[in-house]
Amino acid sequence: MSPADTSKIPNSLQEHWMPFTSNKDFKENPRLITGAKGVYLKNHHGKTMIDASSGLFCNPLGHGRKEIAEAVAKQLEQLDYVQPFQQGFGGSFELARRISKNTPGNLNRIFYTICGSSAVETAIKIVIAYHKAKGQGQRFRFVGRERAYHGMNIGATSVGGMINNVKTFASVLMPGVVHMRHTHLPDHKFVRGQPTSGVEMAEDLERICMNFGSENIAACIVEPIAGSTGVLVPPKGYLKRLREICDKHGIVLIFDEVITGWGRTGSAFASQEFGVIPDVMTMAKATTNGVVPMGAVAVKEEIYDAVMDASPKGAVELFHGYTYSGIPVSVAAALAVQDILEKENIFKKVKEMSSYFLDGIFSLKDLSGVDNIRGYGMLAGIDMKLKEKPGRAGFECFKTCYEAGVNFKATGDCLIIAPQFICEKKHIDEIIEKLRTGISNYMKK
Ligand SMILES: Cc1ncc(COP(=O)(O)O)c(C=O)c1O
Repeated sequence: MSPADTSKIPNSLQEHWMPFTSNKDFKENPRLITGAKGVYLKNHHGKTMIDASSGLFCNPLGHGRKEIAEAVAKQLEQLDYVQPFQQGFGGSFELARRISKNTPGNLNRIFYTICGSSAVETAIKIVIAYHKAKGQGQRFRFVGRERAYHGMNIGATSVGGMINNVKTFASVLMPGVVHMRHTHLPDHKFVRGQPTSGVEMAEDLERICMNFGSENIAACIVEPIAGSTGVLVPPKGYLKRLREICDKHGIVLIFDEVITGWGRTGSAFASQEFGVIPDVMTMAKATTNGVVPMGAVAVKEEIYDAVMDASPKGAVELFHGYTYSGIPVSVAAALAVQDILEKENIFKKVKEMSSYFLDGIFSLKDLSGVDNIRGYGMLAGIDMKLKEKPGRAGFECFKTCYEAGVNFKATGDCLIIAPQFICEKKHIDEIIEKLRTGISNYMKK
């Protein structure tokens, strides 16, 4: 098979160990994608499906964007690689400038990573380096939250809070991590937007400060909307309260905006949408519209300055980085994305389409298999009622929906719907109609 033939049916499925996949199930009944254009995917049965999760939340500008492909192709011809340590090229500086125009407050210093996980790992290291630079090296604890997903390297797994992701690896996780409770309360049934109850869950951070000593706590990390666990929208006032507690105790507040970054809520970042500015913020996924790997960490100028000032001139200030930190091909894709975001006024588009999307999603409430629905911006979670063991309904329902012609991400018993920002009303209608068919067929099984 030549590189141009990668959409063909492979000779063998056995050698590839697939990530986060039921390999045995998949290899018996494969779901191969052979093409993608706009909001549609084509599978190996020749069937067209609507992509209701923007890939893995990463292609919100649509599949097969010519502008991005051309920028990447041109970049590869002109300058294919630059080593990112002690050397640079113009594009990465220009991209950092463009990113920092969109970040909240003065989170204007941008460190490039390879993906969301490495962005979280980098954020953890930057926080530690910052506290050391300020003479507070005793701050080693990180506070995460139950039901959080921050990625899969050791740092990100440690601060994450999804049981299946941590239980096998407990012996190698970071020491000193404590988790707050998640914010999903029993009365958050079919709540559209931010729940009005639950602000008090932020007091868990204050309790952790009392139990472990706030002077030992380096940072608190949360996803503004917990995405992969099933779209848990923060209660009103919750993020603001976390901010206050962090300020009171000198704790760094990290927002993991790997899903919410670049427009998913209707603002560039959820931080702006909810009016709370963190000290450090991660992003990835939509940064390149998912076509080449890239993540980034945006930090407050004071944090950058403190780390710079703590090192003598000529020394490397932060002993951290990746071979693929801000390489030309990723930068070219990300710059093309910045152009599209501006030219097509994408954040405004999301804001305008959000209520139509949420109307459609909440119309599924009448289906007997649906237990709960949540949503904000262009992101929604649908909890399925259990038919058998917990944790199976999402994937089983994913399969009947795939048959019905709609693709999304399932986690546990939840369907996560994150349409592309380029969706028109007719696409939203198609997503809802196919979800209705797929969910109904799942219930009949
Ligand atoms: C909030 C959040 N952080 C981090 C990650 C990890 O990103 P990646 O898979 O690119 O490493 C994800 C992935 O879904 C995520 O949702």
